[in-house]
Amino acid sequence: MALTIGIDIGGTKVAAGVVDEQGQIVEQLLRPTPAENPEKVAETIAEVVGELSRGRQIEAVGLGAAGFVDETRSVVRFAPNLAWREEPLQKKVAELVGLPVVVENDGNATAWGEARFGAGRNESHLVCVTVGTGIGGGMVFDGALYRGRWGMGAELGHMQVVPEGRPCGCGNLGCWEQYASGNALVAEARLIAEADPERAAGLLEIAGGSPGDIEGTEVTEAARAGDPAALAAFSSMAEWLGQGLSDLAAVFDPGCFVLGGGVSRAADLWIDQVREAFARHLTGRGHRPLADIRLAELGASAGLVGAADLARNR
Ligand code: BGC
Ligand code: NA
Ligand code: ZN
Repeated sequence: MALTIGIDIGGTKVAAGVVDEQGQIVEQLLRPTPAENPEKVAETIAEVVGELSRGRQIEAVGLGAAGFVDETRSVVRFAPNLAWREEPLQKKVAELVGLPVVVENDGNATAWGEARFGAGRNESHLVCVTVGTGIGGGMVFDGALYRGRWGMGAELGHMQVVPEGRPCGCGNLGCWEQYASGNALVAEARLIAEADPERAAGLLEIAGGSPGDIEGTEVTEAARAGDPAALAAFSSMAEWLGQGLSDLAAVFDPGCFVLGGGVSRAADLWIDQVREAFARHLTGRGHRPLADIRLAELGASAGLVGAADLARNR
């Protein structure tokens, strides 16, 4: 049985796994991303490959990288949330691990994983959006991953939805990922807590006192406990997500959206609001079918499973 390794390198976490032909994960591990240091990222990848290949025959390694990957699937040209600039990731990792290596964008890898083995099976027009540190995107149309002319298509998080809005890691202002990602959720919660500490009392207590201490897991915990500020932060994120999906439907007219990424672990707190906002903003509503909005079936592992499959089919 041919096994490949898939590694999802996000802005915060490196998720790696050994995957079989059916998309089943045989073994899996998680590391923090040394986001500031490209050399350390390559070393971390080599370490996890070493660990996961022990006692196994591995055919190839697929990397899902949180950045703009070139059309030869080897160089990460730019990454808004990591330090990669013209990074020859494919070559570096191939030299370190001595196996064939394929590099793909993490959002694209997630879309591929879900299209092959998850919520996008049997869908001819799939748009995938990952909600994590940033917003990732990926599209699979008629069984083919859409990559654009230069490999950089589907950078959905960098649509500029607010003129002169919040600064983005990509250098522009007002990008969608500054309003609808995990980082955006935290930013919004901090803003609300600063403006109205009384309303955010529960959240501030969980977070340790000051708005700057608030982290994502704490917003989730506080929202579950009914804290109004935390719930408002989730509502804001959900509204922006739903509106963004309606714009994507205007362009791509998909049969279904698949939502993944780390923040989808708390999807019970926001998915209904996303569906509602999507239906409210959709152009031509009432005269067209509503695309299904589903959660990634492979959850936070969709990216590594997709990357592993792309490596198998290299
Ligand atoms: C990057 C994408 C990436 C996404 C999710 C964005 O900021 O531009 O390349 O797919 O974050 O990690
Ligand atoms: Na993408
Ligand atoms: Zn941006």
